[in-house]
Amino acid sequence: MDMKKLAGEKAAEYVKDGMVVGLGTGSTAYHMVNAVGELVKKGYKIQAIPTSKATEAQARELGIPLLTIDEVTHVDLDIDGVDEIDPEFNAIKGGGGALYREKVVASLADEVIWIMDESKKVAHIGDFHLPIEVAKYGCKQAFAKMEAFGWKPTMREKDGELFVTDNGNYIIDLHLGAGFDIQDVKEKIGTIVGVLEHGLFLNMCRRMIVGHSDGTVEIIENENK
Ligand code: 5RP
Repeated sequence: MDMKKLAGEKAAEYVKDGMVVGLGTGSTAYHMVNAVGELVKKGYKIQAIPTSKATEAQARELGIPLLTIDEVTHVDLDIDGVDEIDPEFNAIKGGGGALYREKVVASLADEVIWIMDESKKVAHIGDFHLPIEVAKYGCKQAFAKMEAFGWKPTMREKDGELFVTDNGNYIIDLHLGAGFDIQDVKEKIGTIVGVLEHGLFLNMCRRMIVGHSDGTVEIIENENK
């Protein structure tokens, strides 16, 4: 049973004709984007804003009409994956390195849905590394600050090279451990020059949609949104 596909396809049911939709990034969002492509084939007049170059390429291939970020005035619904999420809807995102565009689009949306397989639901976030997007210029100094805070940072690499985001920046991954002090870390990140964005997405979603290995789909509403 493909849990990511279950969640992605379920989320596409929330897309209505005429909406401006934020299209997330990653292997779960991939299935949602395919399902949105099917809606377009059916005749839905959707416009979409992709959160990465990879999603943009997939959406183009499927014939989904796209907006550039400069053309966006509002987003009705954003659907995206997560790396970890706790019962208070505190999420870590950016495993795929798209956190900056993902946060811009989510912050513009009237409603946000996070989609995931059951492994992403945790009691406390932090076993997964927390991604931080940093400018190349000054990244060594930013890295040193993160070390000094005791966050065990690592520069993200891909194929033996430093990973470069769609925005031309680096990613530093913090290894904080489950149960870290979320507000303290968030505040301290804000003091580091060169940080473009962090992967903490706190209480941003209206609901989570979780695919389970037994083939069921769980929908968890956030009463505080
Ligand atoms: C990319 C993300 C992804 O949404 C997150 O990493 C989840 O990915 P996947 O659905 O492949 O497990 O934040 O930056």
